[in-house]
Amino acid sequence: MTTNLPQAIVAPLTSAAIFLVVDLKHVAETRDIVQGLCGDLSALVRSIRFRDQGSQLSCVAGFGSDAWDRIFGAPHPPELHPFREIKGAKHQAVSTQGDLLFHIRAMRMDMCFELAMLINQRLASVTASVDEVHGFRYFDERDLLGFVDGTENPVDQEALASAVIADSVPDFAGGSYVIVQKYLHDLKAWNAQSVEAQEDVIGRSKLTDIEQTAAVKKSYAHNELTSIEENGVQLKIVRDNMPFGDSARGVFGTYFIGYACSPARTEKMLENMFIGNPPGNYDRLLDVSRAVTGSLFFCPTATFLDNCPGTM
Ligand code: HEM
Repeated sequence: MTTNLPQAIVAPLTSAAIFLVVDLKHVAETRDIVQGLCGDLSALVRSIRFRDQGSQLSCVAGFGSDAWDRIFGAPHPPELHPFREIKGAKHQAVSTQGDLLFHIRAMRMDMCFELAMLINQRLASVTASVDEVHGFRYFDERDLLGFVDGTENPVDQEALASAVIADSVPDFAGGSYVIVQKYLHDLKAWNAQSVEAQEDVIGRSKLTDIEQTAAVKKSYAHNELTSIEENGVQLKIVRDNMPFGDSARGVFGTYFIGYACSPARTEKMLENMFIGNPPGNYDRLLDVSRAVTGSLFFCPTATFLDNCPGTM
């Protein structure tokens, strides 16, 4: 493995997460302020985490394509580009960009919130707009559609190999590409469907989370369209989706986050979902789930961030 330590991309499952996406102002001090935060980020996480060592607080920082050039300059991560909109005949994966992503996870929301507050304070003078989503664990790792979400995620070494760039890539080994999308669910429409129809959409049993057999699984099942292969080998990504919502306003969502050693993997899954495989055989999850954001970021190694000129 690389001597450059990856960020906490492959982290244990937690019961809380904050997804913070920040746009940066074009002002003279932006670069120094962001680099200063990068240099101090691991120390900020340690200070909060040490107060409850069971909290498993972690934070991954990611940089959009333009932001990378503004903050760090050349070289540019080879596969980092603005998120490309994907237009299917019926549904669309919108591109809303975003300069910085902070993926904060912990067993306690207060610890996530404390870190988000500190990050926002540090960036306040150079931040143009922010999308902050608070995710929570819903029963046994279920999404708000009622299905267990995350079962087929790779773990341990396989997770690292799926999500982290290999040693052979100069300058960027140990980094990762991450795609995030905020999905809003039409729960009324979803719940109007029978459990059997829902299971056909996901490709697993709702109660037991057992995968449907090949004989009954539909070609449009979510887990069929997102299973992709190259030369007979499955190409995996590392997901850590979280439900979020505002029940009084009827907002019910899933925040999708997928780390990969190449964004092409996640992009291929999105093409299968939105355009369909073959085209037209799209993911029926999209009939009840609308993607309202979409962004791609590069997450450099923790070592790279630690070497930024911090202020602490
Ligand atoms: C509304 C948003 C989404 C919801 C509610 C959702 C939910 C689920 C559920 C319930 C499963 C089955 C259990 C599991 O293995 O995790 C699953 C599997 C999976 N999903 Fe999603 N998902 C969403 C979006 C996405 C997106 C955008 C991608 C990729 C671009 C994706 C990639 C995958 C993959 C790779 C699997 C595992 C397939 C397998 O190997 O069996 N999901 N998802």
